[in-house]
Amino acid sequence: MDRQVKYTLPESEMPAQWYNIVPDLPAPPPPPLHPGTGQPVGPDDLAPLFPAALIAQEVSAERHIAIPDDVLDVYRLWRPTPLFRARRLERDLGTPAHIYYKYEGGSPAGSHKPNTAVPQAYYNAAEGIRRLTTETGAGQWGSALAFASSVFGLDLEVWMVRASHDQKPYRKMLMETYGATVHASPSPETAAGRAILAETPDSTGSLGIAISEAVERAASDPDVRYSLGSVLNHVLLHQTVIGEEAIKQLVQAGDTPDVIVGCTGGGSNFGGLVFPFLREKLAGRMNPVIRAVEPAACPSFTRGVYAYDFGDTAGLTPLMKMHTLGHGFVPDPIHAGGLRYHGMSPLLSHIYELGLIEAVAKPQSECFAAGLRFARTEGIVPAPEPTHAIAACIEEALRCKETGEEKVILTALCGHGLLDLPAYAGYQAGRVADLDLSDEALSGALAGLPGNVG
Ligand SMILES: Cc1ncc(COP(=O)(O)O)c(C=O)c1O
Repeated sequence: MDRQVKYTLPESEMPAQWYNIVPDLPAPPPPPLHPGTGQPVGPDDLAPLFPAALIAQEVSAERHIAIPDDVLDVYRLWRPTPLFRARRLERDLGTPAHIYYKYEGGSPAGSHKPNTAVPQAYYNAAEGIRRLTTETGAGQWGSALAFASSVFGLDLEVWMVRASHDQKPYRKMLMETYGATVHASPSPETAAGRAILAETPDSTGSLGIAISEAVERAASDPDVRYSLGSVLNHVLLHQTVIGEEAIKQLVQAGDTPDVIVGCTGGGSNFGGLVFPFLREKLAGRMNPVIRAVEPAACPSFTRGVYAYDFGDTAGLTPLMKMHTLGHGFVPDPIHAGGLRYHGMSPLLSHIYELGLIEAVAKPQSECFAAGLRFARTEGIVPAPEPTHAIAACIEEALRCKETGEEKVILTALCGHGLLDLPAYAGYQAGRVADLDLSDEALSGALAGLPGNVG
């Protein structure tokens, strides 16, 4: 009997290029628009926020983009990452399915986020920028960018969503350990934060509010640029190292995926895992079902609309056509802080509209139950975000148990939960509620969508 659990690659097999899916899609995604003119934004509109190299990647039509040597040198600290066969979970479920997870939690910050934090810090430093600003939900992105900023000698200021700031003090300490400055958001530091605090002094914050604060600070200082940990094309592009490695590792394992599932906040770990597989699917070389899993409390794919909306709460960003719950939407403070975003990657939203992927929403209690089951069989405590993907894997594997199908299921275990233990303790003490989104709250938030565009 084959007992292999880890499928690993030598450093020499690490991808040397990122994969851009845009030229392989049957139709191009709609462009971002300038909110004032309603016209597509150009590089000049984005220059106050991002370095030229990242703007070029954002709109690139090239299928492959070379990864700079200095970035590869930092990737080597944790890449290639292992692909695991979840044999113990399979046995526990009694399923004939083969479950694989690509483990990204071994990076310095404990998640997939350094895959894009490192190139973003690199390109900013290469263009002479000395300081970055960003937002963070769960604190995973903030700690990834804090690590990457320390590598390339940049200062970093982070706005951390208040709910996570209070739930996850160790993430703040980790960011400060890497040398970053952290504000709870909404904060009195910015006009956007002060406006929210005046209306809602006890606001738990949201990613949309924290983005407004970080963008405002960067836009008002020519020496400062802004960095985003998800949603944008260049972020998903950098994450494709996950899928490229997984393709090689599944060949080693002698399996081809039938179902690929991943959790989606802004879509970066999911896009990074699935885009290389979608390329293979579009070329007719495999035919996996590809499924995004989002929280029932923040269901942008499954209950949002596909419309032009702002990426942030204050309306400072370009308008992006995406699945959105409305930029004024403030999700309930669920534990998967990284999934509390009102919108979704415009590229993934477009791919969803093309019918190339599907989506489901899961309540957090089902996800924590799946996370505990995973921890007790596979040993790794997952971050609350990927417990959504694990819950969907378990659901699929139990379906296989019913039907007897030996399906191959692949997911990304995109972060560990060792700094999220209070959330697990709360779940075990019966304190984790399922915060479903009411129709009234949703239609209220959607009423605030910008009209007459697109
Ligand atoms: C561990 C982890 N997984 C998933 C996410 C969701 O982001 P994305 O959808 O961009 O992967 C986050 C975001 O902070 C995260 O920290």
